Amino acid sequence: MKATAIAPANIAFIKYWGKADDARRLPLNPSISMNLSACITTTTVEFSPDFEKDTVSEGFDEKRILTHIDRIRRIAKINMCSKITTKNSFPASAGIASSASGFAALTVAAAAALGLKLGELELSVLARLGSGSACRSIPDGFVKWEDSYAYSLYPPSYWDLRDILLIIENNVKDVSSSAGHEGAYTSPFFTKRLQEVPKRISRLEAALAKKDFQKLGEVIEEDCLDVHHVMQTQSPPLFYWNEKTRQVIRAIKKSGLPVYFTIDAGPNVHLICEAKDEKQVIDIFGNTYQIIVNKPSRGARLC
Ligand code: PMV
Repeated sequence: MKATAIAPANIAFIKYWGKADDARRLPLNPSISMNLSACITTTTVEFSPDFEKDTVSEGFDEKRILTHIDRIRRIAKINMCSKITTKNSFPASAGIASSASGFAALTVAAAAALGLKLGELELSVLARLGSGSACRSIPDGFVKWEDSYAYSLYPPSYWDLRDILLIIENNVKDVSSSAGHEGAYTSPFFTKRLQEVPKRISRLEAALAKKDFQKLGEVIEEDCLDVHHVMQTQSPPLFYWNEKTRQVIRAIKKSGLPVYFTIDAGPNVHLICEAKDEKQVIDIFGNTYQIIVNKPSRGARLC
């Protein structure tokens, strides 16, 4: 009873921040993301009556992973212990949130190892219970998450975009996004954000439909700035950016290139551009920062 799955991380163009239901990780707003081809988790899950206890690869959050395995074991009504081996394609110390790719790969591998025949929607629901944004790493390409599950808006081949990820800092963030969501309500700007997001979702969907890169980039930046404004005005405030993050944003704006920034719960900057501008963007930052070049990717799948 063994299966291996791979899953990509994803970058949110319109971000999920704040939960309607903490335990079930139901979001207060819809979000849209792109799966990342070069930020991949590979996970093997094996169940055997010979195992005396559960084991998880070193360096990963064992408690959170086993809580998720318990969930899947309950569905399958199987009690055997598991061996979980997982690795990321990106350096463990790169400060890239791996919970989305991690819980998507874990869900697909564990469900298959236990013989559960789940469709994409059910896998997305299940992955969400491990980590909210993981539900967006199950479907292919450009993905929308509404309420309980995520689905593909367009396949990866739809638009040859790049996410040029600049690794600004190698340290793991002090406050996890899971904890951060819980404080969102305390920001005086959160209600305003929730009112604005549906309009941004419509604008982003229109830009995607027309492949209007400028409009896409503008709304991506607007939502990034808005979500970080909420984070910074929560109680306690969350400051995920540092001076280098701000320097990169200034350099990008000064360059005049058609490239737009977005930032998750950490200081690393994702630079979104079209394939034709990839080289010029890399030329600006390639000597200063470690760079990971991502294309739109398929979602989670068995190997
Ligand atoms: O899925 P979580 O709990 O790690 O939250 C993700 C939060 C952001 O990365 C900031 C936004 C998003 O939608 O990915």
